[in-house]
Amino acid sequence: MSTTPASIIGRPTPRIDGPQKTSGTAQYAADFHFEGIAHAMPVVASVASGRIRTLDTSAAEKMPGVLLVLHHGNIGPLYRTVPGDDNATNSEVRAAFEDEVVRHWGQYIALVVAETLEQATAAAAAVRVEYDAVPANLRPGLDDYTGERKKGSERGDFAGAFQDAPVKLDHTYITPIETHNPIELHASVAVWDGDHVTMYETSQGVVNHRVVMAQTLGIPVENVRIVTRFLGSGFGGKLFPWPHCAMNAVAARKLGRPVKLSVTRRMMFSNVGYRPRTEQRLRIAASKDGKLLALKQDYLNVSSILDDYDEGCGEATPYLYSVANLGVTSGIVHRNLGAPMYMRGPGAVPGLYGLESAMNELADELKMDPLKLRLLNEAATDEDKKMPFSSRHFRECLEVGAKKFGWEQRTPAIGSMRRDGKILGWGLAGASWVALTLPCTAKVKFHSNGRVSVRSGTQDIGTGTYTIFAQVVHAKTGIPLDRIDVILGDSSLPEGPMSGGSMVTGSVLNAIAAASTAAMKKMTTLATSTEGSPLKGAKTDDLVFTEGRIRKKEQSAGDPEFADILHLARLNGLSAEGKTQPTWEDPKAKNVSLHSYGAQFVEVEWEPDIARLRVSRVVTVIDAGRIINPKAAANQIAGAVVMGVGMGLLEETHYDQRSGQPINGNMADYLMATCADSPAIDVTFLDYPDPAMGEYGARGVGEIGLAGVAPAITAAVYHATGVRVRELPVRIEDLLESKILEA
Ligand code: MOS
Repeated sequence: MSTTPASIIGRPTPRIDGPQKTSGTAQYAADFHFEGIAHAMPVVASVASGRIRTLDTSAAEKMPGVLLVLHHGNIGPLYRTVPGDDNATNSEVRAAFEDEVVRHWGQYIALVVAETLEQATAAAAAVRVEYDAVPANLRPGLDDYTGERKKGSERGDFAGAFQDAPVKLDHTYITPIETHNPIELHASVAVWDGDHVTMYETSQGVVNHRVVMAQTLGIPVENVRIVTRFLGSGFGGKLFPWPHCAMNAVAARKLGRPVKLSVTRRMMFSNVGYRPRTEQRLRIAASKDGKLLALKQDYLNVSSILDDYDEGCGEATPYLYSVANLGVTSGIVHRNLGAPMYMRGPGAVPGLYGLESAMNELADELKMDPLKLRLLNEAATDEDKKMPFSSRHFRECLEVGAKKFGWEQRTPAIGSMRRDGKILGWGLAGASWVALTLPCTAKVKFHSNGRVSVRSGTQDIGTGTYTIFAQVVHAKTGIPLDRIDVILGDSSLPEGPMSGGSMVTGSVLNAIAAASTAAMKKMTTLATSTEGSPLKGAKTDDLVFTEGRIRKKEQSAGDPEFADILHLARLNGLSAEGKTQPTWEDPKAKNVSLHSYGAQFVEVEWEPDIARLRVSRVVTVIDAGRIINPKAAANQIAGAVVMGVGMGLLEETHYDQRSGQPINGNMADYLMATCADSPAIDVTFLDYPDPAMGEYGARGVGEIGLAGVAPAITAAVYHATGVRVRELPVRIEDLLESKILEA
């Protein structure tokens, strides 16, 4: 293997922040402690709909250690964010304690602040509330919806083509509400210094968070600083601020003391988002030989009373396959629930569950191999945007996956495959996810102590962002990783991208590369102009910057290190900025269709006598452009596959139909895939650089690995059991209908 600095791009590189994480010195938001810090505990509504009649805080206020009880009556003004302001995206339209109307169980209605967490918790329980409750709408099903259907992508004549088609299917696929369960709870620590506030936050986007906080608190944006050094994941739930952040900041301002608020796990199930339930009617039609003729996806998703959250299930539908007649429509159904929020692969993941399930059912109807059906309908161009694809290797994902999985050994008859006294089911599905570069800035600085730093206002959600920053700086400058300092997670840094949409890698690396190149150029110029420099008077064109040294191209020994030049020039450091051109401005990107692709091959084992179902093996092949760090990237895909097992078989939030309380709102009762549920996972990257993604051609991998897992599981379940499950998760009860009674 080549070991030039540049070859670190694409090399499996251990996390540079690994030692901090494993030694417990990495500081997550709730780890920030300050002299005199007070602790906040919210009080939450115990009805799903109604109005607060009385809120009696008198007993709570007299309890030991209690400093403050905030509520609608005394919090003072908190503002909504400006609608449509892309730089200030909020989670909920309503500001905390804005009125005395309760619209969901668990809504924050007061905040108790005390000297200790225990005192705050005890006093929060002593706040007495009476409600004028009104009946809540908690109906899980969405099919009573009679409102507007928003038109999405449309082409050809769906109705005519569907009607005339020889083979057609019309089914509805349902995904349940799933709750984000990152290990790290949402938390906020607010520290005021005069009229400036620093907030230590669990934020997937410190730059946006800062603007939202400024608008909500009604203070200049310059007065707000957001810090997120480490995140214990988020899955989308931490993309935008939630009401507890501003509540906590107001408490700290009123008390003149730092205040810490850590959302409890139970509140995580009602107050910080969820993947909304979706109901998708899929109509799909084909010729007898499997050519798609018509495709329609009409989806609904649930939202809160005040928020118009659109899950975007139609994201991948219009371009994944070639089909002349197509339509997508959507509708938002309001219920007495908290606001939904993007969850890993929002839109595409539930949307592809619908589309890929329909494709698998169509293949069965046609008695055609589902792999063949997909290859037959491969799209040569994006038929929706009428643009070429920047780099699409979907066919290769399917073919490589089939080979690795051994797909050609599949016998299609239900229950026909066995191993070790178990029935096997094999299923597959395609995957896709959007790619974009977002505008951002990075700064690279050479320091006189021989170190180099790189900074940008993005954050590491746990995926390896720290490490890839350092990889790029090493690739460009040749300075070893242990002399590179990565600084991120702070809104006072040059503006970096959200840790969302799998877009950090593809976006920020270009800015870092540009900043590195610009800083090296400045260093080289300095070397030719500094008194006493061995390179004084040399032409910069004759010099190269390698291994942290400035060299004459033909010479190899005795060249100065950059730090030597800085000393001679009496400079402490020298820096330069670089920017990423966003997709919509990049001539190489703005006229192409940019997406990642993948294929999921799933094996389930079914033991009919004890009704035991297990996902035993998954082969996943991912086309996500150039892979910068295959080690971190494979972690992402494998983790997403495990989450897919949860989506397929386990995850669902249940609400008490009387109170609106999540019944399984804790980590014991909310089932997630754990190590014991994890299959053998084989991850392959195709690794074709995408020419529309800038210097490295990386598209990012955070979300694509979850797409397609659930429909591949349900196809495998059908193959093993003969039971067609169209509502996730697959339950044991569903499988009791199976006629396959013996292995
Ligand atoms: Mo992702 S759901 O955009 O954090």
